[in-house]
Amino acid sequence: MARTKIKDILKSEKVDYSVNVKGWVRSFRNNQFIALNDGSCMANVQVVIGLDTDPELLKKITTGAALDINGTVIASQGKGQTVEVKADDVIVLGECDTEKYPLQLKNRPSLEYLREIAHLRFRTNTFGAVFRVRHTLAYAIHKFYNDRGFVYMHTPIITASDAEGAGEMFRVTTLPFDGTPRNEDGSVDYKEDFFGRSTNLTVSGQLEGELAAMAFGEIYTFGPTFRAENSNTARHLAEFWMIEPEVAFADLKDNMDLAEDFIQYVIKYALDNCCEDLEFLQQRLLEEEKQKPQNERSEMALIEKLEFVLNNKFERITYTQAIDILLDSPAYKKKKFQYDVKWGIDMQSEHERYLVEKHFKKPVIVTDYPKDIKSFYMRQNDDGKTVAAMDILAPGIGEIVGGSQREERYDLLVKRMEEMHVPVEEMSWFLDTRRFGSAPHSGFGLGFERLVLFVTGMTNIRDVIPFPRTPKNAEF
Ligand code: 4AD
Ligand code: MG
Repeated sequence: MARTKIKDILKSEKVDYSVNVKGWVRSFRNNQFIALNDGSCMANVQVVIGLDTDPELLKKITTGAALDINGTVIASQGKGQTVEVKADDVIVLGECDTEKYPLQLKNRPSLEYLREIAHLRFRTNTFGAVFRVRHTLAYAIHKFYNDRGFVYMHTPIITASDAEGAGEMFRVTTLPFDGTPRNEDGSVDYKEDFFGRSTNLTVSGQLEGELAAMAFGEIYTFGPTFRAENSNTARHLAEFWMIEPEVAFADLKDNMDLAEDFIQYVIKYALDNCCEDLEFLQQRLLEEEKQKPQNERSEMALIEKLEFVLNNKFERITYTQAIDILLDSPAYKKKKFQYDVKWGIDMQSEHERYLVEKHFKKPVIVTDYPKDIKSFYMRQNDDGKTVAAMDILAPGIGEIVGGSQREERYDLLVKRMEEMHVPVEEMSWFLDTRRFGSAPHSGFGLGFERLVLFVTGMTNIRDVIPFPRTPKNAEF
């Protein structure tokens, strides 16, 4: 008999038909009631087995074991579910050594502990919910861009350029550590390397994305990106996924409108399609909040927060206005900020969080940053001091999007690259877009895990990616 997913059994509420279910035991009570989960949804189906079941088989039905069950869906006698499965035939596909099974713990295991067994944490309710929501968001992202006629562009993972010019790259090489080929001056001879030059893992698909936008008009990338920054925070990963749309003929305002529509769309999609998982995560969060002092608890529950973001326009301010607000804030006057505030600073997360969480209490788009703290490719404003950049700051997260209108004027771009020591020669392929039919264009990058953090209400970015890579951590 073909397998039926537990989600479908529970959803249809039909009774009196034969089914095959397969899944893993969450609990087994009174030698009779199995709570079976197959990952298709949060809920377990209750499987009732006969009192005459072989004692040898009973011993093998333990938490974590994988079962294959034929039975009949019947109306449930017990509380908590409308239907259940009356088993006719139970096969143990894989036994589970309960003594050693790490999810057997009576107390709820901590998120930190579960990170150490990342290969098993998928089997918990919390991570089941998180990764189903993550999937749904990924699907919604493709749907959003596809419905608007954007072309999904696969930009390379191995590249020779440093798109952000920040130098935080993982090197890719096949050169040996011992007896590394060297030039006469002692430097490494990359001509001997696999690609005949020095290469690294990409920090962003933007530059290649720009080339494609200059032909297709509207493209987006959605792929892994890598940063070798040694930031051990709850918001940074060394390997994370980024969505980078790039749009020809769009200015900064168009870019902000697209980013806002995009974020609101995917949140709505998650609310419409992951209701059960989000309700579970909301409940989890409420319980966690009970441990915190009153003044540190969030003002809105998770779903309310998501609905609020959906139904309210994002605030739009310039960097200069943001600095003025900070300088005027009680936090600044009472010296509550750890880092100083003045025009020209790269705002710290405490500053960003003040703006979104205390001052505006909603997502904020900050534009027109000082050119010296932003990348070389951003369009230079007429004031000579700022560039047409935009960052979106989200409550509880800080920066979730970074983007800009691009410098489409060849001479100005080359001048800026020289000022910032970006190798102009090596980037001729990028500069060609500005030589052969240049046009105004804009784009941005959304950090996928930061979005998943925001939507699930989780607090550590390591808990929203299946296998996190952070400094000193690449197990599994
Ligand atoms: O602001 P960033 O560095 O911008 C870019 O890479 C541009 N090339 C994007 C573009 O215009 N096409 O990164 C974009 C976003 C950030 O706003 C943040 O959400 C996320 O990527 N991000 C990270 N997420 C997790 N871990 C890290 N180490 C991250 N660094 C950036
Ligand atoms: Mg940024």
